[in-house]
Amino acid sequence: MGRTVRLALNAFLGAALAMSLVVDGHAQDKQITLGFAQVGAESAWRTANTVSVKEAAKDAGINLKFSDAQQKQENQIRAIRSYIAQKVNVIAFSPVVESGWEPVLQEAKKAGIPVILTDRAIDVKDKSLYTTMIGSDFLEEGRRAGRWLEEEYKNNPGPINIAELQGTVGSAPANDRHAGLMEIIKNDPKFKIIASQSGDFTLAGGKQVMEAFAKTYGKQINVVYAHNDDMALGAIQAMEEAGMKPGTDVKVVSFDATKGGFQAMIAGKINVDVECSPLLGPQLMSAVKDLVAGKTLPKRIVTKETVFPQNVAAQILPSRKY
Ligand code: AHR
Repeated sequence: MGRTVRLALNAFLGAALAMSLVVDGHAQDKQITLGFAQVGAESAWRTANTVSVKEAAKDAGINLKFSDAQQKQENQIRAIRSYIAQKVNVIAFSPVVESGWEPVLQEAKKAGIPVILTDRAIDVKDKSLYTTMIGSDFLEEGRRAGRWLEEEYKNNPGPINIAELQGTVGSAPANDRHAGLMEIIKNDPKFKIIASQSGDFTLAGGKQVMEAFAKTYGKQINVVYAHNDDMALGAIQAMEEAGMKPGTDVKVVSFDATKGGFQAMIAGKINVDVECSPLLGPQLMSAVKDLVAGKTLPKRIVTKETVFPQNVAAQILPSRKY
């Protein structure tokens, strides 16, 4: 090889090496930006979930863009569109409701931005519109509550009249906690849902709906099946104002297992609380990092949860994180 050719080759290799270092340097320093579209601030659960996401992003060194949709799907869609326009690396969101996501998720797909669902599922035919779904199995939560009721009333011939306080209409937890309960009690005619209405997962909503139930059904109600602790706490207030005794005359079944739910169990006013963990932040951030690193994620990551009957509440409360 002639001297001139050798020099030219060395110069070329040097430049290539320098370029790869720059590229490498970039890859190493690259700041990941995550756009997160939250449902709102409707419940103690949601507040704990927001804190978990924000703290985990900070701990993981991820730049978090956060928006609160105030429980409105159109706000969430707007937030997702703005994350697409800002070219974030990953979009994550807790969908307010299950349906109506195809158009905006097609836009994210076209832009090459992966989407992670947290907490709530969506109903789409094309499963490639999201990468993974991290959160609870709400159907199983409903079944767990149903099994508790079966056990609680196994020696009681009934009828057992249930008043149901549903979560947000069309949301995954409302749909599945209802369906899970039905799956268990449908073959036992002594259980009957005599009233069912949405309290939108809020304390005020639960109280308002329960006031109406108490007026219409009064003593006929044996069980209040509240889709979350906030509505259960609102219903307890309404029942007490109506002269009913929650926890004794009327059994109260609830979901989330927040500190507020535990305190109501210790006071004897909630009988069982089915756990639903909002502490999804760390799992979300590690999924985001894996995605950016080009790893393949499992399509579904299910949160581990349990059921807390009233008699364990005092012992467990000190260790509750939300
Ligand atoms: O999606 C989770 C549910 O949403 C929680 O049970 C409820 O408290 C929240 O608002």
